[in-house]
Amino acid sequence: MKNIKSMNLEGKRVLVRVDFNVPLDDQQNITDDTRIREVLPTLKYVLDHRGRLIVMSHMGRPKGKVVEKLSLKPVAMRLARLLQQDVPLAPDSIGPEVESRVAEMKKGDVLLLENLRFHEGEEKNDAEFASGLAALCDVYINDAFAVSHREHASVCAIAAQKQETAAGFLLIKELKYFQEAMENPRRPLVAIVGGAKVSGKFSALENMLARVNKFIIGGAMANTFLKSMGYNLGKSMVEDDLVEAAGRLRQRAIEEGIKFYLPVDAVVAQELDPKAETKIVPFQEIPDGWMALDIGPATSTLFDEALYNAKTIVWNGPMGVFEMDAYSRGTLSMVYSVADSYALSIVGGGDTDVAVHSSGQKDRISYISTGGGAFLRLLEGKPLPGVEALGGPVFEE
Ligand code: 3PG
Repeated sequence: MKNIKSMNLEGKRVLVRVDFNVPLDDQQNITDDTRIREVLPTLKYVLDHRGRLIVMSHMGRPKGKVVEKLSLKPVAMRLARLLQQDVPLAPDSIGPEVESRVAEMKKGDVLLLENLRFHEGEEKNDAEFASGLAALCDVYINDAFAVSHREHASVCAIAAQKQETAAGFLLIKELKYFQEAMENPRRPLVAIVGGAKVSGKFSALENMLARVNKFIIGGAMANTFLKSMGYNLGKSMVEDDLVEAAGRLRQRAIEEGIKFYLPVDAVVAQELDPKAETKIVPFQEIPDGWMALDIGPATSTLFDEALYNAKTIVWNGPMGVFEMDAYSRGTLSMVYSVADSYALSIVGGGDTDVAVHSSGQKDRISYISTGGGAFLRLLEGKPLPGVEALGGPVFEE
C-alpha cells in the first residue's frame, strides 16, 4: 500500500474517498465534525501540492435513491469553512455534468461530489459505477478508514481501475495505532468491551482471547455473562441463546490466565426511561421487574483498579445507556479511568468515541478512532476490504 506522500500530485486530478458520514440534527446542522477535521491533513496536502482535489463520501443509508435530507450540502459548507476556500458541491457523483465540472478545475481547486449512496452501484461494488468515478481522476486516495470495512465501489472496485492509488494520512494513522495496540502491545494489554449485545462482539472477544491480558466487560452485554454464572437479573436485557457460549468463553479466558472482570453492581430501573426511579444494587440483588441500565459505583472502582497497571488499553462500547443522563455515570467514570491511566489508550466503535468527546477528556486519550464497524472488524482480526484493495496493510513509504 502506497503512502500519499510518495505520489506526485502536481496538476493531477486527485480523487479522495473520505467518510463524511457525520451526525446531523433536525435542522441539518452538523453536531460533530470530527470526521471532517480528521481528514484535513490529507486534503490540505493535496492542495499544497497543487493537485485538483475531488472529494467523495457517503452519508447515511439512502439505499440507492436521492434523499434530499442526506445531501452533502451541510458538509460542503463546513469543509469550506475549515479549508478557508470555496468547496462547490457537484450535482451528482458521476456523469457528464460532474465530468465537465472536473474539467473546469484549476490546480488547488476543490470539488465535493454528492452522496455516493444515491447510486445503487456504490453499495453493490459495481464496476460500472466505479468506472464513472475512476473517469474523474488520475490518482485515487483512500482516507476513509471508517468505511473501509465495506466492499463498496468507491472503496474497493475503483482501486482496481486506477494505476495510481494510495492511503491518506488518517487511514495510515488508524492502522498504525491499531497495530501498535493489538499486534505488538506493551503489556498488560487490557480490553474494555461494552455495549448492548454480546452477539455483535462475540468474534471480536474470541479474537482478543489470544492477545489480551485482561478483559473488562460492561454494558448490557455483561448481563449475558452474569446469567451464565447463575445470577437472577430481573428483566435486564440478556441474550438467552448466547448464555452458554458466553460462559464457555469466560471459562476459556480464565484457563488461559486472562483476568476476566465483570460488573458487581448496577444502576437499575423498572423502565428504560430517563425519569424512572433508580437504585443501585449488587448484581446478586436485582429485584424482579427491574433491569440493569448502567454499572454501579462499586464496579467503577473495581474497573479503575483493574486498569492500574495497564500499559495498553483498547476500549470498545459504553458501560450503560450513556445517552440518558441517569445511566451515563459508569461510562463517564470509565472515560476518567482510561484518561488517568499511563497506558497507550485507544478508543473506538460502538459510540464510545461519542462518550469520550462529550466528556471533555478527549485530549487525555492517546487515540480515538473515527471508525465504528471498521474498528470492530479489526478487533475481530479480519482484514479491511478497502485496505486490501490498496495492496494490504503494509506501507511502502
Ligand atoms: C460508519 O458510520 O460507521 C460508517 O460511515 C459506515 O457507515 P455504514 O454502517 O452505513 O456503512
